[in-house]
Amino acid sequence: DWNMPDYVEEAVARIREQVGGDEVILGLSGGVDSSVAAALIHKAIGDQLTCVFVDHGLLRLNEAKQVMATFADHFGIRVIHVDATETFMGKLAGVSDPEAKRKIIGKEFVEVFQAEAGKLKNARWLAQGTIYPDVIESAASKTGKAVAIKSHHNVGGLPDDMNLKLLEPLRELFKDEVRKLGVALGLPPNMVYRHPFPGPGLGVRILGEVKQEYADLLRRADAIFIEELRNTIDHNSGKNWYDLTSQAFAVFLPVKSVGVMGDGRTYDYVVALRAVQTSDFMTADWAELPYALLKKVSSRIINEVRGINRVTYDVSSKPPATIEWE
Ligand code: XMP
Repeated sequence: DWNMPDYVEEAVARIREQVGGDEVILGLSGGVDSSVAAALIHKAIGDQLTCVFVDHGLLRLNEAKQVMATFADHFGIRVIHVDATETFMGKLAGVSDPEAKRKIIGKEFVEVFQAEAGKLKNARWLAQGTIYPDVIESAASKTGKAVAIKSHHNVGGLPDDMNLKLLEPLRELFKDEVRKLGVALGLPPNMVYRHPFPGPGLGVRILGEVKQEYADLLRRADAIFIEELRNTIDHNSGKNWYDLTSQAFAVFLPVKSVGVMGDGRTYDYVVALRAVQTSDFMTADWAELPYALLKKVSSRIINEVRGINRVTYDVSSKPPATIEWE
């Protein structure tokens, strides 16, 4: 059991000793682990760190802006923002199989990252936000045990000629410790305590073929859902429904149904809301959200997001359903 300020000082000293005057590259995803790793390494070595943030166009509403505002503007970290939306959309066109989509997104992600990293000729280290459960998981996978899906965002396999050494300063920490470290380093608590978001992003929350139009509609619906979860307090616990759920999001269903609006008939897309409670993400219960909250989210989405005229709530637990729809 360690004391946080002491831990920060020790970790900083260790990183300085490890990298000396070398330059370090880090793939920043906006997720908790890479964010905390970036803040910690920056505290240790400042501008010797360069982060590469690959935006695949499948992030949540305003997420890229928030990542740049936090890391580049607030912390003054050197961040290369690569907007690869068009490249990803191009590669995904016409592809509807979930596993094929995952593979394309993962492969393209590594390629875009490598191309940027390759431009940083002086880099000697690749930093990663690997945490203790990842270490255990990859050890388990080598012995052939079943492991959770975590293929993406582990940016391994850089070209050999780059010869980068691995810097993994969170390797001994559990998730809750990583979060506390993030807060101690000055990261915004609502970033550090955010629900997990899959590497392939909205790519696995748009069923079937991914299209720009679908991603734009989904982002807006999802943001409304999350905003209302954050703003609705459960009076028994005093907590808001975002904190009372482990993961919550909207899913885009590319089917159209009929509706009425004013004097007219609509024929528009459907969104499903998903909210679960779980301790390990291996099993999960659908969350018993208050009807008043569901009602408000539904009416806001239908009124504010033109192109969606129906909202459903997913009442499937895991197993047999998975948390994501793809
Ligand atoms: P499922 O849908 O399998 O998800 O019940 C369990 C947890 O894993 C996340 N997830 C992923 N994370 N890349 C990731 O980084 C992926 O391809 C992926 N698929 C699922 C999911 O969001 C949930 O937290």
